[in-house]
Amino acid sequence: MTCQQIQDNAAPILVFDSGVGGLSVLAAIRQQLPCAPIVFAMDSAAYPYGQCDETTLTTRVPALLGRMVERYRPCLAVIACNTASTIALSAVREVLAIPVVGTVPAIKPAACLSATRVIGVLGTAATVRQSYVDDLAERFAHDCRVLRYGAPDLVDFVEAELRGMAPADPEAPAAALHGLLAQPGGDTLDTVVLACTHFPLAIDALRAAAPRPLSFIDGAEGIARRCASLLAGQHWPAAPSIGRTVTTGDPERCAALEPGLARFGLGPVAAF
Ligand code: DGL
Repeated sequence: MTCQQIQDNAAPILVFDSGVGGLSVLAAIRQQLPCAPIVFAMDSAAYPYGQCDETTLTTRVPALLGRMVERYRPCLAVIACNTASTIALSAVREVLAIPVVGTVPAIKPAACLSATRVIGVLGTAATVRQSYVDDLAERFAHDCRVLRYGAPDLVDFVEAELRGMAPADPEAPAAALHGLLAQPGGDTLDTVVLACTHFPLAIDALRAAAPRPLSFIDGAEGIARRCASLLAGQHWPAAPSIGRTVTTGDPERCAALEPGLARFGLGPVAAF
């Protein structure tokens, strides 16, 4: 099925992540496609993906997305998660009959931007060890030194902030940057790839924690452009609507998120 054949203007875009990280991608999609109906899905039952093993995600993510597509009939699915995309994107594409847009570390634009040719990839532990990242570095940043660091505490920091709670580790942004800058070559690093969709939501804290000016880059805008291009033939409703939010976990445990989700145009959290 191609996007041009999909004419149902109520068909939503499904934006999927383990938690709230997908909001950074959703915000970019809303800029490009403000009237697109949205289903924002959080796999809270398996959060954090960064601590899951590859086999678990390769099995879980395609099966879950398959069930979500059956239920919500989206015109397109966005895996708004670097961890799930670098591990399971091809497995998801094999099982879904709709277009699937993944999120991969923005190493290519970072390599274009870096003056010092030293870039850092900040992601989850699972993302930074993927061969997918080796391939991107090899293809697009072969003349750069590419440092990597897995920062699970920064993922938790963002989840807590969105809930209006004090983060367990308030120093998580500084610790994440230190994890890159303290590596050999880190003293000349000038560009940081935010290779976890949670991290752009902590951009102010990261900028404040940086010991010197650094460029931060993520893939959200590129993903939104890709969605807009794939959906070029789609007919949208005349006005924006409140997006639907679902969780695989306990919706009551997401109640504290609702004011934060509302800032992104999303409604109350329901069970998937
Ligand atoms: N937001 C996700 C990512 O982009 C996953 C974070 C997590 O669940 O560990 O990798």
